[in-house]
Amino acid sequence: MNLKEKESRLFFHTYKRLPLEVERGEGCYLYTKDGKKYLDMFSGLAVNALGYAHPAIIKAVDEQVRKYTHLSNFFIQEPQIQLAERLLSLSGFDKIFFSNSGTEAIEGTIKLVRKWGKQNGKKAIFGMSNGFSGRTMGALSLMDKEKYREGYEPFLPDFGSIEFNSIDDLNAKVNELTAAIFLEFIQGEGGIVGVTKEFIEALSALREKYGFLIVADEIQSGIGRTGKLFGFQHFGIVPDIITVAKPIGGGLPVGAIIGSQKVADVWTYGVHGTTFGGNPVACAAGVATLDTVMTESFLKNIVDNADYFRAKVVEMKAKFPIIKEIRVYGYMIGIDLTVESSPIVEAILQKGVLVNSTANTVIRILPPLIAGKTEFDQFLSVFEDVLSSAR
Ligand SMILES: Cc1ncc(COP(=O)(O)O)c(C=O)c1O
Repeated sequence: MNLKEKESRLFFHTYKRLPLEVERGEGCYLYTKDGKKYLDMFSGLAVNALGYAHPAIIKAVDEQVRKYTHLSNFFIQEPQIQLAERLLSLSGFDKIFFSNSGTEAIEGTIKLVRKWGKQNGKKAIFGMSNGFSGRTMGALSLMDKEKYREGYEPFLPDFGSIEFNSIDDLNAKVNELTAAIFLEFIQGEGGIVGVTKEFIEALSALREKYGFLIVADEIQSGIGRTGKLFGFQHFGIVPDIITVAKPIGGGLPVGAIIGSQKVADVWTYGVHGTTFGGNPVACAAGVATLDTVMTESFLKNIVDNADYFRAKVVEMKAKFPIIKEIRVYGYMIGIDLTVESSPIVEAILQKGVLVNSTANTVIRILPPLIAGKTEFDQFLSVFEDVLSSAR
Protein backbone atom coordinates (compact mmCIF):
# COMPACT_ATOMS: atom_id res chain seq x y z
CA MET A 1 0.00 0.00 0.00
CA ASN A 2 1.53 3.33 -1.01
CA LEU A 3 1.34 6.51 1.10
CA LYS A 4 -1.62 7.91 -0.82
CA GLU A 5 -3.64 4.74 -0.21
CA LYS A 6 -2.67 4.70 3.45
CA GLU A 7 -3.71 8.33 3.85
CA SER A 8 -7.07 7.62 2.31
CA ARG A 9 -7.61 4.65 4.62
CA LEU A 10 -6.50 6.44 7.79
CA PHE A 11 -7.87 9.97 7.61
CA PHE A 12 -11.23 11.69 7.45
CA HIS A 13 -11.28 12.92 3.88
CA THR A 14 -11.08 16.65 4.66
CA TYR A 15 -7.97 17.47 2.63
CA LYS A 16 -7.19 17.19 -1.04
CA ARG A 17 -3.47 16.47 -0.73
CA LEU A 18 -0.78 17.31 -3.26
CA PRO A 19 0.81 14.31 -4.96
CA LEU A 20 4.26 14.96 -3.47
CA GLU A 21 6.19 13.05 -0.85
CA VAL A 22 8.37 15.72 0.68
CA GLU A 23 11.65 14.71 2.23
CA ARG A 24 12.95 18.10 3.30
CA GLY A 25 12.87 21.81 2.61
CA GLU A 26 15.61 24.39 2.26
CA GLY A 27 15.17 28.09 1.58
CA CYS A 28 12.30 28.48 -0.91
CA TYR A 29 12.56 24.87 -2.14
CA LEU A 30 11.08 21.50 -1.23
CA TYR A 31 12.86 18.26 -2.12
CA THR A 32 10.81 15.09 -2.67
CA LYS A 33 11.72 11.45 -2.07
CA ASP A 34 11.89 10.81 -5.82
CA GLY A 35 14.72 13.34 -6.15
CA LYS A 36 12.74 16.29 -7.50
CA LYS A 37 13.02 19.94 -6.42
CA TYR A 38 10.00 22.25 -6.18
CA LEU A 39 9.92 26.01 -5.78
CA ASP A 40 7.39 26.69 -3.04
CA MET A 41 5.52 29.89 -3.82
CA PHE A 42 2.82 29.47 -1.21
CA SER A 43 5.03 28.72 1.80
CA GLY A 44 2.76 26.40 3.76
CA LEU A 45 -0.14 28.83 3.18
CA ALA A 46 1.69 31.96 4.34
CA VAL A 47 3.26 30.25 7.36
CA ASN A 48 6.92 29.72 6.39
CA ALA A 49 7.93 33.37 6.28
CA LEU A 50 11.63 32.50 6.38
CA GLY A 51 11.24 29.48 4.10
CA TYR A 52 12.60 26.11 5.17
CA ALA A 53 15.51 25.32 7.48
CA HIS A 54 16.37 28.98 8.04
CA PRO A 55 19.44 29.20 10.32
CA ALA A 56 17.77 31.73 12.65
CA ILE A 57 14.78 29.40 13.19
CA ILE A 58 16.97 26.32 13.66
CA LYS A 59 19.09 28.15 16.24
CA ALA A 60 16.08 29.54 18.15
CA VAL A 61 14.24 26.19 18.19
CA ASP A 62 17.33 24.19 19.08
CA GLU A 63 18.20 26.47 22.00
CA GLN A 64 14.63 26.49 23.33
CA VAL A 65 14.04 22.71 22.97
CA ARG A 66 17.08 22.12 25.16
CA LYS A 67 15.59 24.37 27.87
CA TYR A 68 11.92 23.32 27.89
CA THR A 69 9.34 22.53 25.21
CA HIS A 70 6.25 23.11 27.36
CA LEU A 71 5.49 24.36 30.86
CA SER A 72 1.78 25.39 30.64
CA ASN A 73 0.45 28.86 31.19
CA PHE A 74 0.81 28.48 34.95
CA PHE A 75 4.32 29.72 34.26
CA ILE A 76 5.72 32.99 32.99
CA GLN A 77 7.83 31.97 30.00
CA GLU A 78 10.64 34.07 28.60
CA PRO A 79 10.02 33.32 24.89
CA GLN A 80 6.38 34.43 25.34
CA ILE A 81 7.53 37.65 26.99
CA GLN A 82 10.03 38.33 24.21
CA LEU A 83 7.49 37.75 21.45
CA ALA A 84 4.85 39.80 23.29
CA GLU A 85 7.26 42.69 23.81
CA ARG A 86 8.13 42.77 20.13
CA LEU A 87 4.54 42.52 18.88
CA LEU A 88 3.29 45.19 21.28
CA SER A 89 6.13 47.63 20.73
CA LEU A 90 5.98 47.23 16.94
CA SER A 91 2.19 47.62 16.87
CA GLY A 92 1.84 50.22 19.61
CA PHE A 93 -0.98 48.13 21.14
CA ASP A 94 -1.44 47.28 24.81
CA LYS A 95 -2.23 43.64 25.58
CA ILE A 96 -1.70 40.24 24.03
CA PHE A 97 -3.06 36.71 24.37
CA PHE A 98 -1.36 33.76 22.66
CA SER A 99 -3.38 30.96 21.04
CA ASN A 100 -2.30 28.00 18.91
CA SER A 101 -3.89 28.92 15.61
CA GLY A 102 -5.72 31.54 13.62
CA THR A 103 -9.19 30.26 14.26
CA GLU A 104 -8.51 30.19 18.00
CA ALA A 105 -7.34 33.80 17.85
CA ILE A 106 -10.65 34.63 16.14
CA GLU A 107 -12.63 32.55 18.64
CA GLY A 108 -10.93 34.25 21.60
CA THR A 109 -11.55 37.64 20.02
CA ILE A 110 -15.26 36.84 19.66
CA LYS A 111 -15.34 36.11 23.41
CA LEU A 112 -13.42 39.30 24.20
CA VAL A 113 -15.73 41.35 22.00
CA ARG A 114 -18.86 39.79 23.51
CA LYS A 115 -17.72 40.55 27.05
CA TRP A 116 -16.83 44.10 26.03
CA GLY A 117 -20.25 44.36 24.34
CA LYS A 118 -22.05 43.18 27.49
CA GLN A 119 -20.30 45.94 29.43
CA ASN A 120 -21.21 48.53 26.80
CA GLY A 121 -24.76 47.55 25.81
CA LYS A 122 -23.77 46.15 22.39
CA LYS A 123 -24.17 42.70 20.92
CA ALA A 124 -24.16 42.47 17.10
CA ILE A 125 -21.01 41.12 15.47
CA PHE A 126 -20.33 41.24 11.72
CA GLY A 127 -17.89 39.65 9.35
CA MET A 128 -17.50 40.42 5.65
CA SER A 129 -18.86 38.57 2.64
CA ASN A 130 -16.22 36.49 0.85
CA GLY A 131 -14.09 36.52 4.02
CA PHE A 132 -12.33 33.65 5.73
CA SER A 133 -11.96 33.47 9.51
CA GLY A 134 -11.26 29.80 10.21
CA ARG A 135 -13.12 26.57 10.92
CA THR A 136 -14.45 26.80 14.48
CA MET A 137 -18.14 27.59 15.01
CA GLY A 138 -17.41 31.19 16.00
CA ALA A 139 -15.24 31.76 12.95
CA LEU A 140 -17.88 30.16 10.70
CA SER A 141 -20.52 32.43 12.25
CA LEU A 142 -18.56 35.41 10.88
CA MET A 143 -18.45 33.99 7.38
CA ASP A 144 -20.99 33.81 4.57
CA LYS A 145 -19.58 31.13 2.28
CA GLU A 146 -21.90 28.13 1.96
CA LYS A 147 -18.95 25.97 0.99
CA TYR A 148 -17.66 26.18 4.57
CA ARG A 149 -20.93 26.58 6.50
CA GLU A 150 -23.29 24.08 4.90
CA GLY A 151 -24.44 21.41 7.34
CA TYR A 152 -23.06 23.11 10.46
CA GLU A 153 -26.09 25.25 11.27
CA PRO A 154 -27.16 26.75 13.62
CA PHE A 155 -24.50 29.44 14.01
CA LEU A 156 -24.04 31.91 16.85
CA PRO A 157 -26.88 34.37 17.43
CA ASP A 158 -26.42 38.09 16.74
CA PHE A 159 -23.90 37.45 13.96
CA GLY A 160 -24.17 38.77 10.43
CA SER A 161 -22.24 39.45 7.28
CA ILE A 162 -21.69 42.79 5.54
CA GLU A 163 -21.07 42.85 1.81
CA PHE A 164 -17.36 43.51 1.37
CA ASN A 165 -16.78 47.05 0.11
CA SER A 166 -20.50 47.93 0.07
CA ILE A 167 -20.95 51.21 1.94
CA ASP A 168 -24.74 50.90 1.53
CA ASP A 169 -24.81 47.51 3.23
CA LEU A 170 -22.50 48.79 5.96
CA ASN A 171 -24.77 51.79 6.62
CA ALA A 172 -27.86 49.60 6.60
CA LYS A 173 -26.58 47.06 9.14
CA VAL A 174 -24.42 48.96 11.61
CA ASN A 175 -25.96 50.86 14.53
CA GLU A 176 -25.62 51.58 18.25
CA LEU A 177 -26.05 47.87 19.05
CA THR A 178 -23.05 46.86 16.95
CA ALA A 179 -20.27 45.43 19.12
CA ALA A 180 -17.67 44.63 16.47
CA ILE A 181 -16.80 44.33 12.82
CA PHE A 182 -14.21 41.76 11.76
CA LEU A 183 -12.41 42.16 8.47
CA GLU A 184 -9.42 41.13 6.44
CA PHE A 185 -8.21 44.37 4.88
CA ILE A 186 -6.86 42.17 2.11
CA GLN A 187 -8.98 39.05 1.71
CA GLY A 188 -6.67 36.08 1.23
CA GLU A 189 -8.72 32.96 0.68
CA GLY A 190 -11.26 35.24 -1.02
CA GLY A 191 -8.80 35.80 -3.88
CA ILE A 192 -6.44 38.62 -2.71
CA VAL A 193 -9.03 41.37 -2.77
CA GLY A 194 -8.34 44.64 -0.97
CA VAL A 195 -10.78 46.81 0.89
CA THR A 196 -11.46 50.18 -0.77
CA LYS A 197 -10.38 53.52 0.69
CA GLU A 198 -14.01 54.70 0.59
CA PHE A 199 -15.24 51.69 2.55
CA ILE A 200 -12.61 52.25 5.23
CA GLU A 201 -13.53 55.93 5.47
CA ALA A 202 -17.18 54.99 5.95
CA LEU A 203 -16.27 52.33 8.50
CA SER A 204 -14.10 54.78 10.39
CA ALA A 205 -16.88 57.40 10.49
CA LEU A 206 -19.40 54.83 11.74
CA ARG A 207 -17.03 53.69 14.48
CA GLU A 208 -16.72 57.32 15.53
CA LYS A 209 -20.52 57.59 15.63
CA TYR A 210 -21.44 54.29 17.31
CA GLY A 211 -18.26 53.28 19.15
CA PHE A 212 -18.01 49.63 18.03
CA LEU A 213 -14.74 47.69 17.76
CA ILE A 214 -12.89 47.04 14.52
CA VAL A 215 -11.04 43.73 14.42
CA ALA A 216 -8.30 43.44 11.80
CA ASP A 217 -7.74 39.82 10.82
CA GLU A 218 -4.03 39.86 9.99
CA ILE A 219 -3.66 36.10 10.17
CA GLN A 220 -2.62 35.85 6.52
CA SER A 221 -1.58 39.43 5.77
CA GLY A 222 0.42 40.18 8.92
CA ILE A 223 4.10 40.09 9.87
CA GLY A 224 5.63 41.81 6.88
CA ARG A 225 3.84 39.94 4.10
CA THR A 226 2.49 43.12 2.52
CA GLY A 227 5.71 45.07 3.06
CA LYS A 228 4.47 46.49 6.36
CA LEU A 229 4.01 44.79 9.75
CA PHE A 230 0.24 44.64 9.16
CA GLY A 231 -1.95 44.88 6.08
CA PHE A 232 -4.26 47.50 7.65
CA GLN A 233 -1.33 49.93 7.77
CA HIS A 234 -1.80 50.50 4.03
CA PHE A 235 -5.31 51.88 4.62
CA GLY A 236 -4.90 54.78 7.06
CA ILE A 237 -6.91 53.34 9.96
CA VAL A 238 -6.03 51.77 13.29
CA PRO A 239 -8.23 48.87 14.44
CA ASP A 240 -9.07 48.10 18.07
CA ILE A 241 -8.00 44.46 17.99
CA ILE A 242 -5.62 42.56 15.71
CA THR A 243 -5.59 38.79 15.21
CA VAL A 244 -2.39 37.16 13.97
CA ALA A 245 -1.22 33.57 13.44
CA LYS A 246 0.33 31.74 10.45
CA PRO A 247 3.86 33.26 10.16
CA ILE A 248 4.37 34.47 13.74
CA GLY A 249 5.61 31.06 14.89
CA GLY A 250 8.20 30.83 12.09
CA GLY A 251 6.60 27.53 10.97
CA LEU A 252 5.45 26.41 14.42
CA PRO A 253 1.84 26.83 15.57
CA VAL A 254 1.03 30.00 17.46
CA GLY A 255 -1.57 32.73 17.12
CA ALA A 256 -2.31 35.93 19.01
CA ILE A 257 -4.96 38.43 19.92
CA ILE A 258 -3.50 41.91 20.20
CA GLY A 259 -5.72 44.45 21.93
CA SER A 260 -5.73 48.21 22.24
CA GLN A 261 -6.26 50.13 25.48
CA LYS A 262 -10.01 50.11 24.76
CA VAL A 263 -10.23 46.37 25.56
CA ALA A 264 -7.23 46.06 27.86
CA ASP A 265 -9.25 45.44 31.04
CA VAL A 266 -12.11 43.32 29.68
CA TRP A 267 -10.53 39.99 30.56
CA THR A 268 -9.80 39.01 34.15
CA TYR A 269 -8.24 35.89 35.68
CA GLY A 270 -9.76 32.64 34.45
CA VAL A 271 -12.18 34.00 31.84
CA HIS A 272 -10.16 32.68 28.90
CA GLY A 273 -7.26 30.27 28.55
CA THR A 274 -5.46 27.51 26.67
CA THR A 275 -3.09 24.64 27.51
CA PHE A 276 -0.76 24.93 24.55
CA GLY A 277 -1.24 28.53 23.43
CA GLY A 278 2.02 30.48 23.36
CA ASN A 279 4.16 27.36 23.20
CA PRO A 280 7.70 28.46 24.14
CA VAL A 281 9.41 26.78 21.17
CA ALA A 282 6.95 28.39 18.76
CA CYS A 283 7.41 31.76 20.48
CA ALA A 284 11.21 31.46 20.27
CA ALA A 285 10.89 30.76 16.53
CA GLY A 286 8.50 33.73 16.32
CA VAL A 287 11.07 36.04 17.90
CA ALA A 288 13.65 34.90 15.33
CA THR A 289 11.12 35.49 12.54
CA LEU A 290 10.20 39.00 13.66
CA ASP A 291 13.83 39.99 14.22
CA THR A 292 14.66 38.89 10.68
CA VAL A 293 11.63 40.34 8.92
CA MET A 294 11.12 43.65 10.69
CA THR A 295 14.07 45.55 9.28
CA GLU A 296 13.75 48.36 6.78
CA SER A 297 15.83 46.64 4.11
CA PHE A 298 13.98 43.31 4.40
CA LEU A 299 10.58 44.99 4.02
CA LYS A 300 11.83 47.21 1.18
CA ASN A 301 12.94 44.11 -0.71
CA ILE A 302 9.42 42.72 -0.49
CA VAL A 303 7.94 45.91 -1.93
CA ASP A 304 10.57 46.17 -4.71
CA ASN A 305 10.28 42.52 -5.75
CA ALA A 306 6.48 42.69 -5.70
CA ASP A 307 6.58 45.77 -7.98
CA TYR A 308 8.98 43.97 -10.31
CA PHE A 309 6.68 40.95 -10.42
CA ARG A 310 3.55 43.03 -11.01
CA ALA A 311 5.17 44.78 -13.98
CA LYS A 312 6.17 41.43 -15.51
CA VAL A 313 2.67 39.97 -15.17
CA VAL A 314 1.11 43.14 -16.59
CA GLU A 315 3.42 42.66 -19.62
CA MET A 316 2.30 39.03 -19.91
CA LYS A 317 -1.35 40.08 -19.73
CA ALA A 318 -1.00 41.83 -23.10
CA LYS A 319 0.12 38.50 -24.61
CA PHE A 320 -2.23 36.19 -22.70
CA PRO A 321 -5.83 37.44 -22.43
CA ILE A 322 -6.54 34.53 -20.06
CA ILE A 323 -5.00 36.83 -17.40
CA LYS A 324 -7.85 39.07 -16.26
CA GLU A 325 -6.21 40.99 -13.45
CA ILE A 326 -3.22 40.95 -11.13
CA ARG A 327 -3.65 42.11 -7.54
CA VAL A 328 -0.48 42.67 -5.56
CA TYR A 329 -0.07 43.60 -1.89
CA GLY A 330 3.61 42.88 -1.32
CA TYR A 331 3.94 39.09 -1.20
CA MET A 332 0.16 38.57 -1.15
CA ILE A 333 -0.50 38.14 -4.83
CA GLY A 334 -3.52 37.08 -6.83
CA ILE A 335 -3.54 36.47 -10.56
CA ASP A 336 -7.18 36.39 -11.58
CA LEU A 337 -7.88 34.38 -14.71
CA THR A 338 -10.82 34.27 -17.08
CA VAL A 339 -10.95 30.50 -16.48
CA GLU A 340 -10.76 28.16 -13.48
CA SER A 341 -7.32 28.40 -11.95
CA SER A 342 -6.89 24.83 -10.64
CA PRO A 343 -5.87 23.18 -13.97
CA ILE A 344 -3.30 25.96 -14.48
CA VAL A 345 -2.02 25.51 -10.92
CA GLU A 346 -1.78 21.77 -11.57
CA ALA A 347 0.22 22.37 -14.78
CA ILE A 348 2.54 24.76 -12.91
CA LEU A 349 3.10 22.07 -10.28
CA GLN A 350 4.05 19.58 -13.03
CA LYS A 351 6.81 22.03 -13.96
CA GLY A 352 8.17 22.19 -10.41
CA VAL A 353 6.50 25.25 -8.89
CA LEU A 354 3.92 25.28 -6.10
CA VAL A 355 1.21 27.92 -6.10
CA ASN A 356 -2.34 27.75 -4.82
CA SER A 357 -5.75 27.98 -6.43
CA THR A 358 -8.44 29.96 -4.61
CA ALA A 359 -11.75 31.72 -5.30
CA ASN A 360 -12.22 29.51 -8.43
CA THR A 361 -10.30 31.67 -10.87
CA VAL A 362 -7.41 33.02 -8.82
CA ILE A 363 -3.82 31.81 -8.65
CA ARG A 364 -2.75 32.75 -5.14
CA ILE A 365 0.96 33.35 -4.62
CA LEU A 366 2.23 33.68 -1.05
CA PRO A 367 5.98 33.22 -1.36
CA PRO A 368 8.27 32.87 1.63
CA LEU A 369 9.29 36.40 2.54
CA ILE A 370 12.89 35.48 1.74
CA ALA A 371 12.00 34.92 -1.94
CA GLY A 372 13.80 37.20 -4.38
CA LYS A 373 13.73 38.06 -8.09
CA THR A 374 15.25 34.66 -8.98
CA GLU A 375 12.26 32.85 -7.53
CA PHE A 376 9.75 35.22 -9.15
CA ASP A 377 11.56 34.78 -12.48
CA GLN A 378 11.37 30.99 -12.16
CA PHE A 379 7.63 31.20 -11.56
CA LEU A 380 7.21 33.61 -14.50
CA SER A 381 9.07 31.37 -16.88
CA VAL A 382 7.00 28.32 -15.88
CA PHE A 383 3.77 30.36 -15.96
CA GLU A 384 4.54 31.60 -19.46
CA ASP A 385 5.24 28.02 -20.64
CA VAL A 386 1.98 26.79 -19.15
CA LEU A 387 -0.07 29.62 -20.65
CA SER A 388 1.59 29.13 -24.05
CA SER A 389 0.64 25.48 -24.14
CA ALA A 390 -2.88 26.23 -22.85
CA ARG A 391 -3.58 28.47 -25.86
C1 LIG B 1 -7.52 35.57 7.17
C2 LIG B 1 -7.55 34.27 7.91
N1 LIG B 1 -8.16 34.21 9.11
C3 LIG B 1 -8.21 33.07 9.82
C4 LIG B 1 -7.64 31.90 9.35
C5 LIG B 1 -7.70 30.64 10.16
O1 LIG B 1 -6.42 30.30 10.62
P1 LIG B 1 -6.09 28.79 11.04
O2 LIG B 1 -6.16 27.95 9.82
O3 LIG B 1 -4.71 28.86 11.65
O4 LIG B 1 -7.10 28.39 12.06
C6 LIG B 1 -7.01 31.91 8.09
C7 LIG B 1 -6.44 30.68 7.53
O5 LIG B 1 -6.27 30.53 6.34
C8 LIG B 1 -6.96 33.13 7.37
O6 LIG B 1 -6.36 33.20 6.16
